[in-house]
Amino acid sequence: MEFEPFRIKVVEPIPITQREYRVEKLREAHYNLFFLRSDDITIDLLTDSGTGAMSSKQWSAMFDGDEAYAGSRSYYKFEEVVRNITGFKHIIPTHQGRAAERILFSILGGKGKLIPSNTHFDTTRANIEYTGATAFDFPSPIALKTDEIADFKGNIDLDKLESFINTHTKEKIPLVMLTVTNNSGGGQPVSMENIRKTSEISHKYGIPFFIDCCRFAENAYFIKQREQGYESKSIIEIAKEMFSYADGCLMSAKKDGLSNTGGFIATNLDQIAEQARVILIVTEGFITYGGLARRDLEALAVGLMEALDESYLSYRIEQVKFLGNELQKRGIPILLPTGGHAVYIDASKFTPHIPSHQFPGQAIACEIYIEGGVRTVEIGSLMFGKRKESGSFQPSNFELVRLAIPRRVYTNNHLLYVADVIDRVYKHRQNLKGMKITYEAPYLRHFTAHLEYIS
Ligand code: F0G
Repeated sequence: MEFEPFRIKVVEPIPITQREYRVEKLREAHYNLFFLRSDDITIDLLTDSGTGAMSSKQWSAMFDGDEAYAGSRSYYKFEEVVRNITGFKHIIPTHQGRAAERILFSILGGKGKLIPSNTHFDTTRANIEYTGATAFDFPSPIALKTDEIADFKGNIDLDKLESFINTHTKEKIPLVMLTVTNNSGGGQPVSMENIRKTSEISHKYGIPFFIDCCRFAENAYFIKQREQGYESKSIIEIAKEMFSYADGCLMSAKKDGLSNTGGFIATNLDQIAEQARVILIVTEGFITYGGLARRDLEALAVGLMEALDESYLSYRIEQVKFLGNELQKRGIPILLPTGGHAVYIDASKFTPHIPSHQFPGQAIACEIYIEGGVRTVEIGSLMFGKRKESGSFQPSNFELVRLAIPRRVYTNNHLLYVADVIDRVYKHRQNLKGMKITYEAPYLRHFTAHLEYIS
């Protein structure tokens, strides 16, 4: 696909600001880009979550939303679509992904429990740890080499997973998870073979296997492109096969649901579904809306199918690659190959003079904002680093700056502007200074931390 497979019906002006103004706004935001107002941002690549453009079909479906508290026909449309794609028996809507996480881990988590994954996303890890359980990441060894090209760098390390289960006994491991695509590991896909083998290992020990599937359609597209035997399958067939190996899934539908909000738990496990529905009613809403307006379920029923359209996925993955190529042309170190929803700058190579405990990714993200009003997000030691009880600092596996591309929102001209802004920052990278935290919350500190430059 050489052009966008859609035309534009509604436009929204974007703010243009001056450098001195941005310096001031960033200072007021305590050097945390989450505190900036979007009116002060020219191109917003903070996240691809809930920031996409909906189609005319989605907007018109929303008008048809049935806002009944119980038994809404919008729920049944949503349920049918999710069941058709995932094949799961129980479909439980939630207002977004982390609500699904909180419900599932309050059932399966708890003190002493251990939950392995290829790489847990930050909210997943936080929801696991909030229950007293511990989250473990077993990315494949190649995932840690940012400049090595491989087809499925999102895979879990199967040997490590199996020896982990053997070491800790299956009673302590309430579920095994896979995140597709692997967001914190660079938006890299997981192969069908790896999904199938993870399922085999989990089931050999009688442990349920769940997929964190918020970017399942992008993952399925990569399988079609890269895995032998899938070249002529449709995306939906591939997606169905991915889900067929699992006992359930957690979904933030703000990504491949092409919607601005929503999520779900889907599972074949009756007992878990029953407990999840109880918690849902106590904390989210009735079982046929789960904290969503029913019109949002309509948008999702349409969006989930649009996300499986191959010409859309080809445009989507090519656009991410386009930005990656433009950065590479300018000599900027990025995680290779480009993944499904974002380009990740390798901060350790961009500013090797800034050590992990001084948050190189955050220093770069701040400078990119000052340089051109582009908002990105650090995925590194600010997000995942930890101060151990001994006082020593445990850095994240990666120091990255993520440029997440909202779906169907920006054109390649916008992305060329972004590449030029980052190029200008790269040219004076040796002047960038490390940062320190002056305030942090006990969980998910990156959202609300205050930072300062180290003078
Ligand atoms: N799992 C993964 C892999 C995610 O990327 C996210 C969200 C969630 C779960 C939680 O979903 O936001 O709907 O509660 N990721 C966003 C991001 C926030 O920017 O990558 P949520």
